[in-house]
Amino acid sequence: MNDDTQPNDVYVPTGWYTDDELRLLRQTAREVHAAAHKRASFVEVGVFRGRSAMILAQERQDRDLWLIDDCSMEGACQMTWPRGRNIIQVCKPAEEFIFCKPIALLHLDADHTEPVVREHLFKYAPHVVVGGAIVFHDFGGQEYPGVKAAWEYWLNQVASRSRHWQKTAAAGSVQVVRRV
Ligand SMILES: C[S@@+](CC[C@H](N)C(=O)[O-])C[C@H]1O[C@@H](n2cnc3c(N)ncnc32)[C@H](O)[C@@H]1O
Repeated sequence: MNDDTQPNDVYVPTGWYTDDELRLLRQTAREVHAAAHKRASFVEVGVFRGRSAMILAQERQDRDLWLIDDCSMEGACQMTWPRGRNIIQVCKPAEEFIFCKPIALLHLDADHTEPVVREHLFKYAPHVVVGGAIVFHDFGGQEYPGVKAAWEYWLNQVASRSRHWQKTAAAGSVQVVRRV
């Protein structure tokens, strides 16, 4: 991992995020922190061993960080998730968790099938505040068409609100959508 992504002496959990993707996640977290209401949380759906969660934990400042994973994937390990004040670990399917707080950054990287991503969007995306963002992993590729399809479905269902969302940056399979 490169120096500008992480200092050499920091343990980095294994996962699928590349250096370029982690860099974009970090940059987005910083931009969102500057733009979104200070009481709004960072939320990650799909933590696995905590690779991307580590970036969110470092960049959240004093915001709450919610880490949600049902540990259904072989190798998922809660022991290596970031810990700290206002980091809340939730071990259950994200679609079954009741979440009603404002969200500054929503990172969606769990089940990539269209019906489940739709459920996660309908449940969490309405809570994303102005200035906030949704970060998708595995967006737009042939391997996981469900992620992009679910996003497009959700945007169509809330067509009157679609003008409030803008695709901004992308790197690798990461797509950032900002609420404007
Ligand atoms: C691709 S991995 C996440 C990778 C992680 N973001 C990283 O940086 O390494 C997907 C994770 O989503 C979890 N998962 C799958 N379906 C889920 C669901 N419905 N609700 C919550 N977590 C789920 C799996 O247990 C797995 O740990």
